[in-house]
Amino acid sequence: MRIVFIGPPGSGKGTQAKRLKDRLGIPHISSGDMLREAVARGTELGKKAEAYMNQGALVPDDLVIDLILERIRQPDAQSGFILDGFPRTLAQAEALTAALERTGLPIERVIHFNVPDEEIIARSTARRIDPETGRIYNLVFDPPPPEVRRRLVQRSDDDEPTVRKRLAKYHAETEPILDYYAGITDVRTISGVGTLEQVQQRLLAALNSNAGSGV
Ligand code: AP5
Ligand code: MG
Repeated sequence: MRIVFIGPPGSGKGTQAKRLKDRLGIPHISSGDMLREAVARGTELGKKAEAYMNQGALVPDDLVIDLILERIRQPDAQSGFILDGFPRTLAQAEALTAALERTGLPIERVIHFNVPDEEIIARSTARRIDPETGRIYNLVFDPPPPEVRRRLVQRSDDDEPTVRKRLAKYHAETEPILDYYAGITDVRTISGVGTLEQVQQRLLAALNSNAGSGV
């Protein structure tokens, strides 16, 4: 299945995608993770992207579009994928549609994670990542076991002022693409508030129900 996750920063896209990918046997493709890896490796792309990311701005469309279109052409993505964090602008969504039209394999479902802004701020500032496993924790909502706590890292864009900028970008640039997708595919809005298991159950229900059956 070809799935797109759309939701504000810290709405649980990465957390849920990591749980879903093994269940469906398809890759989790996170533009943010790929860009952070490019920054860490010091590649040309990473050098261009770093300042935008640290300021909570969007990386220019052409850089991100090339990165993701190249990734979805890889053999492991031929039976489906979960796109997390891409597309984020109308130009990105249109580029993805055009590329998939050439293969005859369009996006089958868009999942919109709905989480209120104040919950986003609380979650994002308490997020910590395990650099060894990539596991996402939360100091408040999903605390790490004591033995991994010391090695956890915080993302450089997870301070409150930067989270607020990312949130504003989301409302201005990304939310409008939900209307674009509503015209061409099956969009499901789920609440991202609740336990990780509750959100996962809503996600599975939204993926399993047939087109046109509502939310
Ligand atoms: P990216 O990495 O994509 O960040 P984001 O979209 O802002 O989303 P996050 O990763 O912050 O949140 P998430 O929804 O994955 O939440 P998570 O599961 O971690 O992008 C980073 C930057 O890269 C952008 O700002 C931009 O500069 C650039 N970029 C990336 N893609 C781009 C693109 N397409 N175009 C241009 N630029 C691009 O969960 C968050 C926290 O909440 C965790 O601590 C988790 O434990 C906790 N949590 C999860 N679920 C729950 C729950 N149900 N209840 C309580 N807590 C929960
Ligand atoms: Mg993420």
